[in-house]
Amino acid sequence: MKKRILTGITTTGIPHIGNYIGAIRPAIEMTKNSDESFFFLADYHSIIKNQDPDSIKDSVKNIALAWLSSGLDPKKSYFYKQSDVPEIIELCWILNCVTAKGLMNRAHAYKAATSNNENDPDKGITMGLFSYPVLMAADILMFDSTHVPVGSDQVQHLEMTRDIAARFNHLYKPLLTLPEPIIQDKENVVPGLDGRKMSKSYGNVIPLLESESILKKSIMKIVTNSLEPGDPKDSKDCTIFNLYKNFAEETEIKSLQKAYDDGIAWGEAKQLLFNVINTELEPVRSKLEELKEDNDFINDLLSDGAKKARIIAKDKISQIKEVIGITQIS
Ligand code: ADP
Ligand code: TRP
Repeated sequence: MKKRILTGITTTGIPHIGNYIGAIRPAIEMTKNSDESFFFLADYHSIIKNQDPDSIKDSVKNIALAWLSSGLDPKKSYFYKQSDVPEIIELCWILNCVTAKGLMNRAHAYKAATSNNENDPDKGITMGLFSYPVLMAADILMFDSTHVPVGSDQVQHLEMTRDIAARFNHLYKPLLTLPEPIIQDKENVVPGLDGRKMSKSYGNVIPLLESESILKKSIMKIVTNSLEPGDPKDSKDCTIFNLYKNFAEETEIKSLQKAYDDGIAWGEAKQLLFNVINTELEPVRSKLEELKEDNDFINDLLSDGAKKARIIAKDKISQIKEVIGITQIS
């Protein structure tokens, strides 16, 4: 069987280097060892939590730019917007009809959203939020994906996808492929400026697609302790060191460790960190400069990607509709 990898990024917020290290860079790397790869912008997922149209539009563009500038080759993969493949939404409804409500009740994201509700457990819960995992299952099952690279927070959604697919296959015909998750290294959570997980929800990010001077300014804002130059420093749980490890070669990491033992000044450590990140991001930035004003080019590329993806999706949805009895009168 062909190895087909597929992953999506929800289009809320502006991409940061946590997304780059945790999702974009490894997914692009994985395309080298797979037969086919599918990368998409999960724009219908984004409207679950964000009802500001301008910020969604901005995010779609920036996340597309992040993938393309980071080296995704749209000729060698399927690159599209979820909303441009309407068969996914058709499949989503069909899957809703075989998904047990009880399964959705157990979703971590839904449970987290209700956990602060005191009197009315349904306060602020939309059907979109509740059935989020079904849309994700449709994204994955539409293309018979075999491997889905995701962060550890998404593992439950993959288990649900497998459950939903197995239920469909049992009720009708074994048409759906059960995917395997590829879980990104759990240890490798990229820390943000304040040492917590880098996340747009914490406002502690180093942006991916900004100028050199903004990159430098962000890095200079990393919170450190008050140890003076000359004091030996601990690299464990150190934000600067942990970020450095994601960008540097083995020998550079060893030499920074030595510098920590020898009492490097925080300012100097930040400069070294800036240098390694900047070196890696230079080609990303120059590709970005080429692309960022060319909306037509990006739109055409996404629309070609959707056309290619729809060839597969149309064939699959017609097989699915056939087995469930939504077909021509005969
Ligand atoms: P955010 O936490 O900023 O909302 P998302 O949840 O939209 O980010 O994540 C999009 C992708 O980027 C996911 O695959 C996620 O695992 C990855 N990712 C996000 N933040 C980090 C981080 N700090 N370290 C590693 N990977 C991350
Ligand atoms: N839920 C994923 C996230 O928040 C994004 C996503 C949507 C996705 N559909 C997907 C990831 C399908 C992998 C496969 O990160």
